[in-house]
Amino acid sequence: MSNKLFDVEKFAAVARRAVAEGIVLLKNDDNALPLKKGAKIALFGRSQFNYYKSGTGSGGMVNTAYVVGVREALESDDRFSLNAKLKDTYDEWIKDHPYELGEGWAAEPWFQEEMPISADFAKEISEESDVAIVLIGRTAGEDQDNSNKQGSYLLTDDEREILKNVTAAFKQTVVLLNVGNIIDMKWVEEYNPSAVAYIWQGGQEGGNGALDVLSGDVNPSGRLTDTIARDITDYPSDANFGGEKCNIQQEDIYVGYRYFETFAKEKVLYPFGFGLSYTTFSIEAKKFEGEDDKGYFTVTVTNTGKRKGQQVVQVYVSKPQGDLGNPVRELIAFGKTKELEPGESQDLQFTFTSYQLSSFDDSGVTGHKNAYVLQEGEYTFYVGDNVRCEEIAGVYSAAETRVAKQLSEALAPVVDFERMKPVPQEDGTFKVSYEPVPKATIDGDDIRKTNMPQELTGNKSGLKLLDVFDNRCTMEEFISQLSNEELFCIVRGEGMSSPKVTPGCGGAFGGVTDSLLEKGIPVACCTDGPSGIRMDCGKKAFAMPNGACLASGWNLELSEELYNWEGLEVRKNKVDVLLGPGMNIHRHPLNGRNFEYFSEDPYVTGKNAIAQLKGMHKYGVTGTIKHFALNTQETGRHTVEHVASARAIREIYLKGFEMAVKEGGAHAVMTTYGSVNGYYTSSSYDLVTRILREEWGFDGIVMTDWWAKGGKSYHGDNSNMAAIVRAQNDLYMVTGNAELNTNKDNLEESIKTGDITREELQRCAANICKFIMNKPVFARYIDRDNDIDKKLAEEADDEELAFDKMVLCDVDETGIATINPADINTGRNSTTMFTVSFKERGDYKLKMTVRANATSELAQIPLSIFRDKLLVKMITLTGEDSDWQTIEVPFDACAMTFFMKFYFAQDGMEIKDIKFELVKSREEEFRLMFARMGEE
Ligand code: BGC
Repeated sequence: MSNKLFDVEKFAAVARRAVAEGIVLLKNDDNALPLKKGAKIALFGRSQFNYYKSGTGSGGMVNTAYVVGVREALESDDRFSLNAKLKDTYDEWIKDHPYELGEGWAAEPWFQEEMPISADFAKEISEESDVAIVLIGRTAGEDQDNSNKQGSYLLTDDEREILKNVTAAFKQTVVLLNVGNIIDMKWVEEYNPSAVAYIWQGGQEGGNGALDVLSGDVNPSGRLTDTIARDITDYPSDANFGGEKCNIQQEDIYVGYRYFETFAKEKVLYPFGFGLSYTTFSIEAKKFEGEDDKGYFTVTVTNTGKRKGQQVVQVYVSKPQGDLGNPVRELIAFGKTKELEPGESQDLQFTFTSYQLSSFDDSGVTGHKNAYVLQEGEYTFYVGDNVRCEEIAGVYSAAETRVAKQLSEALAPVVDFERMKPVPQEDGTFKVSYEPVPKATIDGDDIRKTNMPQELTGNKSGLKLLDVFDNRCTMEEFISQLSNEELFCIVRGEGMSSPKVTPGCGGAFGGVTDSLLEKGIPVACCTDGPSGIRMDCGKKAFAMPNGACLASGWNLELSEELYNWEGLEVRKNKVDVLLGPGMNIHRHPLNGRNFEYFSEDPYVTGKNAIAQLKGMHKYGVTGTIKHFALNTQETGRHTVEHVASARAIREIYLKGFEMAVKEGGAHAVMTTYGSVNGYYTSSSYDLVTRILREEWGFDGIVMTDWWAKGGKSYHGDNSNMAAIVRAQNDLYMVTGNAELNTNKDNLEESIKTGDITREELQRCAANICKFIMNKPVFARYIDRDNDIDKKLAEEADDEELAFDKMVLCDVDETGIATINPADINTGRNSTTMFTVSFKERGDYKLKMTVRANATSELAQIPLSIFRDKLLVKMITLTGEDSDWQTIEVPFDACAMTFFMKFYFAQDGMEIKDIKFELVKSREEEFRLMFARMGEE
């Protein structure tokens, strides 16, 4: 065993376990799984060649050293063998059907063409195999939602044909879904395979995790974190999902199981929390007691079957309907047992608070407007292994309605609409009715005007941030010496791929100018997340199982352990903040980024984010919880307004964030691209100052999403930084150069017109400095408490980039070295290596004319240029850079021959002309130098 601090093999072992625990087995007739030792497997489905390790977009751009898919994993295990004939047939077919990448950002197809399998061929293969495994793969992601079409939410005709013929020919067929998000499942009834499991997108260890469940080395204990309904139109958000301009939350708090269990149980194919095991368990509720504002109870879980395994215990409350109306079930706690041997029992303890039992009254119907209230009546607690459990753990009776927390109006809607409310029926069921939603009575921005910050004053000068750290002065005194110009610069984050931080990272902030650096503010670094560390220069990092997969494991300790490793890797790469976890609610199954998020349930979401944050905090780095808030779709993501009641916002969309701040110590937040109830979230004083900071006590930094807009809904503008800073969204991410104000923001003119005050800028600057002072970058800068960095530096690897193509680049008779653009691989993850050979030594410049070819304005297209092994320049075009532009990269003091390397992390960049031009010959200088060296 190595004694390395960062040990990638140990990391991989934890990730493998996390994938296995996240796999959700939905069907397992006649014990088709686990596979019998010696089983001859017929592996169908082209995803055997391209296991989807994650979805697409920023959350999927991790350069991995390897990805183990299902086929590789099965092939590596000599307990099983793959049908050779089928394998050979696929191997032949794939030669003419390579993976289709699509062109550019957000253009990767949701699925890949399948090899048709005829009934006869399936029959023939079945005669030489024991069991069939059919893999179905899907992707989606940023800027590209799923769709209710074949190849996305629905199976393709080819996939149906495979299922039809394979299930007819084989006694046992196992279907594995390598997807980031739930898909339509009606086909299970139609083809009736023996076993079906969601294996999700498990990162680089995904196939190994799947193997462990298939082989029975790990007994499946994953449970759904979303409800799978029969039809996409059954989801209550369906009528209001996917609009480009405005989406109304008519279903109010009745998202996912809150809707289905209350109104439409019959529409559910697989309920929330459901998942099978290879063994059976009993769950028995024991002691139940309450004191003050807390309740406690114990549950005994016994393995009543024949194999060892883990069980997930879920605790739901059924609250009284009262005046507000409530869902019939709400998850308030969960836990997972250790691996229990047959016959073994374990007691699990649960605690809940009265705050968790309260509901938000946004209309005043209970007599307590804008308060969380506990309505009078009975609260019944159910425990079990999915939302439909019937074991009662206890009942709490509230004799009268009381206030759990009085708040004030914030983020209420500014338009009229109606929302869902249950009407109890005589037979105990509920019918859907609609009621008008209470509208805002005051604008958050008017409240801001009555609550302006005081000027931070001081009369000292020459202070450094270290003086604050060592208590020689206050933060106020330190900030007071920053000029307006310095304040403008400190709220501008730079990127992407700023040369001031780890190459290829998303953003740099803090000491981004010389004068800020002189004040002792180092430059902090952040990068995507959440599926691992994204470094667009091609540097490798560990690709993590996706959020949906990890949440389905319901094992918070394991997630925390996994994120200990992630935190260490983040620190090793000199990154301070990972841009994740993503914690938006799965409002609708078609949201393309559901793979990055956890669940339709806020409690599951909050708990998972807490585990990941705690994991990273162990090593002094943190995560940026995103996207704050109501980022429920990708369609029209920087134009769309989400309209929702204050109750739905608080109970569904903000709850997880609130938990992450209060319990997880979150101290970095990213707002969304979109707007909510009148304001872009980046500029919502209600959201960012009143709720996040004043109500929850958040004490960290808030950053925008990359190139996000500020202002009022429908009038967003990404130069409107005044609106962003006013809301106390501290950092605009990202601008090319803070000092040159390349984003052309309005700070300078706004301070003159009074649209923003110096005090408001100071407040953001103080938030940023305080954050940086407590991050590894500062420890390294002042060279204190950085033993971890030193140890990690000793372990540094000298990573070589592989390249796809070698090109010779020679000077011609005119003295110019021209490169043929057609020789450059501009595809995603591709490297072109050039041997550059000049006739004379000297200073050169590389001149290239480039443009972006992308469908989305927010596409990110990075190119890294290396000279020998050194990174000389990173260029990130966005989708907006669609006009040809010329970029010049200095190559000073060049020898006659060297290597140059281009690495593209995404496709979508077009290169027209590219050549080296001599700026200054250094032939004479070099000659003299060598002559001198010879003399010495
Ligand atoms: C995404 C963010 C991401 C950022 C930086 C944006 O397009 O929405 O989630 O962190 O880019 O890559």
